[in-house]
Amino acid sequence: MDLAALLRLADFEQAAELVLSAPTLAYVNGGAGGHRTVEHNRAAFEAVWLRPRVFADTCEAPDTEVTLFGRTFSSPVLLAPTSPQRILHEDAELAVARAAQETGALSIVSTDTHFPFPDIAAAAEDGCWFQLYAYDGRERIAETIEMAEAAGATALVVTADAHYPARRVSAQRAGFRTPPEVDFGTMRQLGILQGDVPASARIGRFPVTWDDLAWIRERTKLPVVVKGVLRAGDARRCSDLGVDGIIVSNHGGRQLDGVLPTLVALDEVVTEVGHERVVLVDGGVRSGTDIVKALALGARAVCVGRPYLWGLAVAGQAGVAAVINLLRLELGDALRQLGVAQVADLDSSFITTATAPRPHPADGPDHGQVDRTRHHDTIVRRAIR
Ligand code: FNR
Repeated sequence: MDLAALLRLADFEQAAELVLSAPTLAYVNGGAGGHRTVEHNRAAFEAVWLRPRVFADTCEAPDTEVTLFGRTFSSPVLLAPTSPQRILHEDAELAVARAAQETGALSIVSTDTHFPFPDIAAAAEDGCWFQLYAYDGRERIAETIEMAEAAGATALVVTADAHYPARRVSAQRAGFRTPPEVDFGTMRQLGILQGDVPASARIGRFPVTWDDLAWIRERTKLPVVVKGVLRAGDARRCSDLGVDGIIVSNHGGRQLDGVLPTLVALDEVVTEVGHERVVLVDGGVRSGTDIVKALALGARAVCVGRPYLWGLAVAGQAGVAAVINLLRLELGDALRQLGVAQVADLDSSFITTATAPRPHPADGPDHGQVDRTRHHDTIVRRAIR
């Protein structure tokens, strides 16, 4: 395996397409309905242009580090909670946690993990965040939070947008079923799951209310982050309840097709609570310049989902680490080219949404495909041999 030959996240995506079955690919890359939101999460980044500043004050390598809730990370790229990772690699969340540890990044660990959360937390020596799905009433939520705290979680992420099953038409069409090797170790340890894992990879969830969120906030001393907020009013309500962070997210377009792109929603959430709370964003981040755009719009950091899953599928821990390192390299390059010494210096002056004429279709395939020539295909095939 020659991971160094994979030079863009698109290469990792292409490599994942070569190693995964069609149903698994449809589950990972697909979303709800007709994929309008999946595609527009990406398109929103494409609509933003960078405005470099010339003659920088310093020629030092730019500082990509970011500090969140007292811990400093090597770059403002967090690994979004995803599941079931066991469909991609036998080491699943352990590989992801180790890759995060190795690269100075952070893994946000889903409730729906193959391995029990305490084992994953032990692999992430410097800490990880626990993402809570509620599978029952408050007693069960309390037990889940206690388990996460005891295992050493350093923040609690409450996902707000996935209580109800989504219509994931592409995964359904491709015939995706949970393979028999997948388990839900955290849920099994908590007694939420007994017996077989359901073929849909989904167990009925318990809808969390505003009252429950207030109760969760009271219940734990950990920083609480709400994931899935897309409106200023909801961000305000979270902040007023004492929530420490917001992840502007539409679940990577996997829950409801037609929901607005996250980069578009980011602005109203930052305007409302950006001065008092940590605002993060995910959905469609695929390059260092995407990170720059999100930070210029006021996010403190971004999360990525599918990109590190491609790395996991291709090469386990090494593949995830390679994806994180590539994004960091691209971010450092972008900062230097823009004349920015550190991520905290990014602001809206570095971007514009002024429109440029669209390239004529005859000029070549779209941006993400641009370097997918036949020769390039050979390079990726050789890299993962
Ligand atoms: C997810 N996501 C998700 N979110 C969450 O809170 N808990 C979870 O268990 C999962 N599971 C999951 C599985 C898979 C296969 C994907 C692709 C995504 C959503 C995830 O955290 C994140 O919001 C999106 O993946 C971000 O979009 P990108 O980076 O994938 O475009």
